[in-house]
Amino acid sequence: MNEQAPRSAEATPVTVIGLGSMGRAIAGAFLAGGHPTTVWNRTASKAAVLASKGASLAPTAAEAVEAGELVVVCVLDRDAAQEILHPVTDRLAGRSLLMLTSLSPAEANETSAWAARESIAFLGGAIMATPDLIGNPEEASLLYAGSSAVFELHRAALELLGTSTYLGDVAARASLLETGLLASMYSMFAGFFHGAALVGTQGVTAEEFTALALPWLKAMTTFLPGQAEFIDKGDYTTDVQSLAFNKGGLDHIMRISEHQGIGTDIMKPIAELIDRQVAAGHGSDSLARLIEGIRTPKA
Ligand SMILES: NC(=O)c1ccc[n+]([C@@H]2O[C@H](COP(=O)([O-])OP(=O)(O)OC[C@H]3O[C@@H](n4cnc5c(N)ncnc54)[C@H](OP(=O)(O)O)[C@@H]3O)[C@@H](O)[C@H]2O)c1
Repeated sequence: MNEQAPRSAEATPVTVIGLGSMGRAIAGAFLAGGHPTTVWNRTASKAAVLASKGASLAPTAAEAVEAGELVVVCVLDRDAAQEILHPVTDRLAGRSLLMLTSLSPAEANETSAWAARESIAFLGGAIMATPDLIGNPEEASLLYAGSSAVFELHRAALELLGTSTYLGDVAARASLLETGLLASMYSMFAGFFHGAALVGTQGVTAEEFTALALPWLKAMTTFLPGQAEFIDKGDYTTDVQSLAFNKGGLDHIMRISEHQGIGTDIMKPIAELIDRQVAAGHGSDSLARLIEGIRTPKA
């Protein structure tokens, strides 16, 4: 995180509500960027370090809201956020509210609709980072959706937290995109764990495997834009590496895995998705057609 910068006369006063590990990192980044920063947390003692760095500790959530032109809320979940915000709705009117509490897409849209009814300018956000990465734009990425006016007005402050990406005015989008990215990540890790278990049956260490997996996976990511093109066109016609070809690959992985005595919990659903598409007559199509099986789950 950056050293604390001198406060500039132009820096927007910000308020951070919620000082768990993420809220403290966020407030710290605003302080380091020279913003007058007011904080409030249910458990006030968590503000001690921030106060020693120059943050103002508001005695109540209402006073915290009044101190900030940009009010950032980063608490556990939607219920906690509502518990804090609903009693201070009138004080939020006319201000910018940035919700960095993790919400589901539906919760984000509901919160956005509530804010609109109460004349609160609302921006939803999703944090693609851990608290220690906040303030480091190369490693922390934050997704925003909702009021473009709030995003543009406070963009400089938001850039203090990490790289900022605005996804449009539908508040649900930040949460939806975050979930999509997390799903991609978990599937990649799970595939890596399967590979490590498989090679481990012959005494290959995970470290040795990683040395090969890293360049391999990196090279494979170069195929993603091509897969995206199939999906967006809805046309899976290909003359290379058809689903039938990939079925052979998955059958091979399943056979070898079983032979080596490891579980097939990770690979089996992928093999089944391929089997379904091939059985439905799409064997000559691209692997990207698997998305159709995901879009239409089995009854
Ligand atoms: N940590 C991460 O790596 C990470 C990454 C991405 C997104 N996020 C999101 O950021 C948000 C905060 O996460 P965190 O890691 O800071 O969580 P945390 O360390 O567990 O802190 C939770 C915060 O929520 C407050 N809180 C919980 N229930 C409350 C209630 N009923 N009323 C008032 N305050 C309440 C806590 O107040 P007390 O101190 O009084 O208990 C604390 O400030 C979550 O939505 C999380 O999903 C976190």
